Formats: sequence, structure tokens, C-alpha cells
Amino acid sequence: MKKYRWGILAPGKMSAKFTKGIQLFDNAELYAVGSRDASRAEKFAKDFGFKKYYDSYEKLAADPDVEIVYIASPHSHHREQTLLCLRKGKNVICEKAFGLNAREVNEMIREAKKQDLFLMEALWPPFQPFYKKAGEILNSGVLGKPLHLHGYFSFIPPYDPLDRKFNLDLGGGSLLDIGIYPVIDALTFLGVPAGIKASATFSPTGSEESLSAVFSYQGGEMATIYSSFRTNVGIGCDILCEKGNMTVTRGRDMSQKVILSLHGEQEQEYTFNPPAMGYHWEAEEVMRCLDEGLKESPVVPLSFSLDLIKTLDRIREAAGIRFPADDN
Ligand SMILES: NC(=O)c1ccc[n+]([C@@H]2O[C@H](COP(=O)([O-])OP(=O)(O)OC[C@H]3O[C@@H](n4cnc5c(N)ncnc54)[C@H](OP(=O)(O)O)[C@@H]3O)[C@@H](O)[C@H]2O)c1
Repeated sequence: MKKYRWGILAPGKMSAKFTKGIQLFDNAELYAVGSRDASRAEKFAKDFGFKKYYDSYEKLAADPDVEIVYIASPHSHHREQTLLCLRKGKNVICEKAFGLNAREVNEMIREAKKQDLFLMEALWPPFQPFYKKAGEILNSGVLGKPLHLHGYFSFIPPYDPLDRKFNLDLGGGSLLDIGIYPVIDALTFLGVPAGIKASATFSPTGSEESLSAVFSYQGGEMATIYSSFRTNVGIGCDILCEKGNMTVTRGRDMSQKVILSLHGEQEQEYTFNPPAMGYHWEAEEVMRCLDEGLKESPVVPLSFSLDLIKTLDRIREAAGIRFPADDN
């Protein structure tokens, strides 16, 4: 069994969760951590049992023994850090949102192809049992044609103009942080929309803090997307179909539920509580793909990441949401 040496770039909150997933695999070695700050790198390495730690991302990428890098920095830095790692010969799994806009994501994909290396956006939902269950139910035809999807994600973080959620320079705003999930729901269960209308409200920094979008489809289906840092509605989507409805929800602890409600029948509920909050499946997928010589994941193909970022760009255009980096 081939064992892979993992590197963690930007050891923050999400890296801690993801590392707990990597820890579950015998074919994964917690090898090195790179942070802008030496003491943060050292603490993270010691907390999780990494062999090495570096006080810069460049040093992490330059370590010839690192084989896979997981990137979990603010959205604004994904492009630059993915390019850095690819150019140093590393396979990369990078957090959502993959880049700030389609131009950045295209550049990352071009570099991966040029270097002939593996690249994947770290998207959680496609690996989860509730998503697979929802897909199976829709494909079975029992609900008939889906006509409307209402997807939502909102919570109330403390306002901090420097935090990546509110700082425009870091790609702040609810859309890329949490609104991306109902957009993934719509792309997965209905496809790429033909038309998009959207509207947003903004925080004092100018970052978007609440977003509503309406997707329309050639076949008459529609989706409404809602994300916000001003309300606390939770995370999920309702899929309204000809013969009944399905509700797909998850808790902040990543516990998952699918509720199937056929017209005139009793509800059926399916619940799932995966280990490591379900993040381990993304790590497993990277190693499985590398074992098989694949440069991208069939579960999260790069074409899906491109569809996703193009859709996010269209929403931003419709709602008047801009990042300084859009002008580069
Ligand atoms: N898949 C999921 O379920 C999920 C959940 C939460 C977040 N995420 C994603 O994970 C990524 C990181 O989120 P997080 O909540 O972990 O972020 P975070 O804890 O705020 O920051 C993560 C790391 O990024 C670096 N960083 C922070 N502020 C920076 C700045 N101003 N400039 C440059 N680098 C900075 C720091 O690394 P250093 O130690 O090197 O300074 C920090 O430890 C985001 O892309 C987010 O969307 C995904």
C-alpha cells in the first residue's frame, strides 16, 4: 500500500477539522505544516503529530518529500498558493471557494494540467451519505419531476472588519463562504441555470452580507438561493417535486438528514452521522485518485468547479458584488 505524505498549508480552523479526517487513514502520513507564523505551525504540528513544520508556505512547498498539500487559507489566497504548490510538484486539494473568480480557477486548472498533477476543490457535499441518498431518491423517479429548489445557509458571526468573512481583500461575503452550498445543491440536483437574477445587502466594509438569487432553467424549473451573516436559518435545501417534496439538511456539526414526503403519505426520514464530520472522504478520494493515476476526481471533476465558479461570478454580476482582485 502506497503511503502519502501530507502537507497542510494555513493551519487554521478548517485545517484542524480536515486533519482529523486524514488521521483516519493508514495510507496517509501527517508530514508537514506551513504557516506564516512559526509558533502557529509548531503548535499545529505538535497538536496533530506532524513530523515537520515551516514558518512559510514557500518552505512547505519546497520540501521534496511533501506529496499532497491541503490548502485552507482565505479565498483570496487560493490561486496564488495552489500555483505555488503545483509549480513545486505537489498534488493539491484546495478549499472552496476554489478561487475568487473564473479567471483564477481557469489559471489553476491550466497549471495543474501543465504540471501533470492532481488538483481538486475540497467540496464536502458530494461525498456525503445524505447527498447520495437525495440523488438516489430523485433518480428513482418516485418524486416525479423536480420543479423548485430552495437552498439556504445562514448564521450570525460576530462582525469583524478584518475577518475573512467581512474583508473584501480576503474574498469576504456570505456567497463564497456559505452561499456556495445552496449553489452546489442547485447545480447538483437541477444543473447549470439558464438565467440568474440576484440581489444583495452589504456590510460597512462593502462586503456582501446577505444574498438572494433566483435561478431559472430551460425546462421551467427554478431555484431560490439564500445566504446571510445576518440571520440564522441553518443549512439545507427543499426540493419541491410533482409528487412530493424532499428536505435535505445538515447541522453545524455536519449531522445529516433527508426527509422524503410524498403527497398523501407518511414522511420518511434518513439520518447520517459520519465520523470526522465527513471530511475524511475528500482526503481518501485524493489518495484513491493518485493510486489510480488520475489527475482529477470523478466525484468533484474540475469541470464542476468551473461550472460552480462561473455561476458564482454570474450571481455576483447580477447582485453587484465585486472584489478588488476582479480588476487585476
Ligand atoms: N469545507 C468546509 O466545510 C469549510 C468550512 C469552513 C471553512 N472552509 C474554507 O476553509 C478556508 C479557511 O477557512 P478557516 O475558517 O479555516 O479560516 P481561518 O481559520 O480564518 O484562517 C485559516 C488560515 O488562513 C491564514 N490566514 C488567515 N487570515 C489571513 C490573512 N489575512 N491573510 C493571509 N492568510 C490568512 C492563516 O494561516 P497562517 O497560520 O499561515 O497565518 C489561518 O490560520 C476557507 O476557504 C473557507 O471557505 C471550508
